[in-house]
Amino acid sequence: MLSIIEKFRAIYNKKDTSEDLRFLALQSCHTANFLLHELNSISHQHNCNNGTAVDIGTGLGIIPLILHSQGKYHNYIGIDIDNKGLMIAKRLFEENNFNPICADVYAMPLKNAISDILFARYVLQHVSRIEFFLSELKKIMKTDSKIVIIDVEDDMNVFYPELPPETKNVFASYEKFQKQCGGDRNISKKLPYFLFQTGFKNVEIKPFTSTFFVSKKYCRDYFKQTKDAFLALSTELELVKDELFKHKFISPSDFHRGLNSCLVYLNSSDSIFISRTEFLITAMK
Ligand SMILES: C[S@@+](CC[C@H](N)C(=O)[O-])C[C@H]1O[C@@H](n2cnc3c(N)ncnc32)[C@H](O)[C@@H]1O
Repeated sequence: MLSIIEKFRAIYNKKDTSEDLRFLALQSCHTANFLLHELNSISHQHNCNNGTAVDIGTGLGIIPLILHSQGKYHNYIGIDIDNKGLMIAKRLFEENNFNPICADVYAMPLKNAISDILFARYVLQHVSRIEFFLSELKKIMKTDSKIVIIDVEDDMNVFYPELPPETKNVFASYEKFQKQCGGDRNISKKLPYFLFQTGFKNVEIKPFTSTFFVSKKYCRDYFKQTKDAFLALSTELELVKDELFKHKFISPSDFHRGLNSCLVYLNSSDSIFISRTEFLITAMK
């Protein structure tokens, strides 16, 4: 796992890579161990080592990379509309069994049932026509194969003490922006319904909560820990900030004020508790 994280860190440190891909690399570093824990909770078919895993909205290919490191599945297909990310994912794979496909799921070029297991992490939160999207995914899934969705549920995030209003304002602008694009940061609780509507069966949900608690009195590396927490919180916002400014959801000065207040909040509190819950949802075709 460490070598996978190092690969993503190297991408983040390459200043000539585009900002959005660098931050996706950073998000991959921050979430890799948690994702591993989530993936380890999935039951796979006994003959999965010969099978094909498809990752929708693969980004930099973190899911295929982890599955490959575990010797699970034989072929990996990463589908994404962003070709630059796919090219990096292809390079990160040392073997030749990662096939990148640059495509929009809404205009899926594949028509055959090819996947023995299909993943979509942090993608459905961006999707406007969920039922159509899911039915396109279903077409490339083999009969009785599994779909694994991992996504957010912001209603279940807890910050103690409460975030400063300027920081809440930044999060709210992000939520509004995602909503206007047809997305939903509280998508997880709605997915069982959409899966059912599109004819999936055996829908199962598993919540995964990451908690962060530090106290100045007891943590010697309090500042390092809060700095890491800040990076983890702000990475996603950095990914979308240009869009937020372009659509006037927040001004650059309010955005930076909000992030600055977040840093002050993290450093000035005596103890901080942050809890984030996301859901892993599986269903069968
Ligand atoms: C937040 S990233 C998640 C990347 C990766 N799944 C991960 O867990 O790190 C969402 C990805 O979904 C891709 N995406 C969004 N809508 C898509 C669509 N309609 N078809 C294909 N890819 C899409 C984006 O280009 C982006 O790479």
